[in-house]
Amino acid sequence: MPDLSVRIGGLTLANPVMPASGTFGPELGEVFDLDRLGALVTKSVTPEPRRGNPTPRVAETGQGLLNSIGIPGKGIEAWIAYDLPVWRRFAAPLVVSLSAPTASAFAEAARALTVEGVAAIEANISCPNLEADGRAFAAEPGPAAAAIAAMRGATRLPIWAKLSPNTGDAAAVARACEEAGADALVVANTILGLAIDLATLRPALGAGMGGYSGPGFKPIALRLVWQCAQAVRIPVIGCGGIATGQDAVEFLAAGATAVQVGTASFIQPAAMLQVIEGISAFCTARGFSRVSDLTGIALPSLQ
Ligand code: DOR
Repeated sequence: MPDLSVRIGGLTLANPVMPASGTFGPELGEVFDLDRLGALVTKSVTPEPRRGNPTPRVAETGQGLLNSIGIPGKGIEAWIAYDLPVWRRFAAPLVVSLSAPTASAFAEAARALTVEGVAAIEANISCPNLEADGRAFAAEPGPAAAAIAAMRGATRLPIWAKLSPNTGDAAAVARACEEAGADALVVANTILGLAIDLATLRPALGAGMGGYSGPGFKPIALRLVWQCAQAVRIPVIGCGGIATGQDAVEFLAAGATAVQVGTASFIQPAAMLQVIEGISAFCTARGFSRVSDLTGIALPSLQ
């Protein structure tokens, strides 16, 4: 049995597989034992309650999903009171995704989340569905660094910065987040896309555009991981179209230390378990005694 454990900025995970934010909740615990995952990642929590975007919020494409959910939720105070105790029934490290409108709101919310039972904060600086034009903090190095630096001053918890594919220079944003104090990067959030409803000849999503996820995004996310892993020293967590152990191994080879699985879980709720088993089988078949030895093996610097 290979050693599947990985280290991410001070945290040791039993294996490198975890959900992508927003793609599952504690109810998945009725399908399988969530403590078999390397970590648990919540839907983004916001400082204030939010209604989210107009419906329809999801459109299926031939090769995945377009969403414009707009981060609805009860707000951080109610989340800590009602949702956190439910999550704390599980033993796997809990990573709380956090979205906020300003750098100072990120800081204040990060302070509020610095409580028993929260292992790390994933800073969602990359949601494409909050502004009509899809703009996010992570589109530019300056605003991305400002949000991370503000959080860094407010919490001792590890901060994972979730980057955007909707940017001209992902490596520059990655470096800015590292310099601002991020402990890891998650690469990447969904990529802006559009679907047209042929019945109405209008955009298929109520908010117009949305974020695309699924198998068609995989090569794009893989390249972003490859770029970012060469730009920083902190761990990179790959996310984008991963459905199998083989997909995950590709991300590890491109520089990821761990992976997140999102859209695949909507099709196969136990997809994350299959990814763990697939990685383990690959390591055994190819003689890797530790999964961490795969990280970055395809990068030019390691050849
Ligand atoms: O694609 C996404 N959808 N990314 C996010 O960060 C949030 C989510 C939503 O709620 O719109």
